[in-house]
Amino acid sequence: MDLVSAINKRHSVRHYKEKPVPRRIVRQVIAAGKDAVPLRPGIDIRWHVVWDGGTVTRRLEGQTRTYGVFTTVPHYVIAISRERPGYMENLGFCMEQLILAATDLNLGTCWIGGMFSEAQMSEFVPDLDQDERIVAITPLGYPSTSPTATIAQQLLYWSDDRLGARKPVSEIASQHIWTVPWTGDDKTLDEILEQTRLAPSWDNTQPWRFIVDDRWVIATVDHTPPRGNLHENRPYYRLDGGIAMCHFYLAAQARRWMGYWLIPEDAEIKMLRDRYTIPLTYDVLGIFPIAAHR
Ligand SMILES: Cc1cc2nc3c(=O)[nH]c(=O)nc-3n(C[C@H](O)[C@H](O)[C@H](O)COP(=O)(O)O)c2cc1C
Repeated sequence: MDLVSAINKRHSVRHYKEKPVPRRIVRQVIAAGKDAVPLRPGIDIRWHVVWDGGTVTRRLEGQTRTYGVFTTVPHYVIAISRERPGYMENLGFCMEQLILAATDLNLGTCWIGGMFSEAQMSEFVPDLDQDERIVAITPLGYPSTSPTATIAQQLLYWSDDRLGARKPVSEIASQHIWTVPWTGDDKTLDEILEQTRLAPSWDNTQPWRFIVDDRWVIATVDHTPPRGNLHENRPYYRLDGGIAMCHFYLAAQARRWMGYWLIPEDAEIKMLRDRYTIPLTYDVLGIFPIAAHR
């Protein structure tokens, strides 16, 4: 599947055709989730399909605020992770691969996270273990092409223009030092960051910031409200961080910048904070080595 091209096509779909998706295709989407490259290997994730989407849509009513009104959703995928250090960003990293695979198969999706209560969602996952968390869900189906759906989508973007727009790369990336914006002096890296900035985030807050140095790129994420979406005591902003890191990883791989996000220890985080003047309001999530390509 072409996940990198899917980055440019993906957008949140909230209105669907009633037509069910053939099980064979849903299984392909789930397989992409199972085969997803993890950010933090060793944290179990599983994907639970609710075939009768109407039951979940009714449960969500009134919980996802007006911006999240979903209609005739044929199916939902529920993302479940073991609660371990780093599980939020790991789930974001893996689930974005599932979402992009669905996009490549011409299916619509929409991240829903931090807007529902786990207690209500757990009705759909009867075998939920004590240390498992329902982190996010997504509708899955064929996007509606009806004029009503198109108008509803446009109205949503008009009512809150932050939902569709993205910050320029200069606002999400720094060059060497926190306060110096990225100037785009490396064309390939600039393309990678362009695809990174297309990542979806809760309420389109885009809470991430990347620091580019000659040897590596550092991923950080803002935890101050409202960017630092906290719900049921879980750091949903780290989910957003994992999603953006997934875009960076896929875009880098596609350009033969083979590499992987390394997870820094506490002592390294302190060293990075001092070296790059990273504010305490940002969590440091990973380091991606790039020296071989510069
Ligand atoms: C973690 C997360 C949670 C989200 N929760 C919701 C939600 O509850 N309801 C909704 O309609 N959209 C939700 N979204 C979708 C965002 O609003 C959307 O991704 C963002 O506005 C960017 O628009 P786009 O996905 O069309 O590019 C969520 C996105 C993320 C990443």
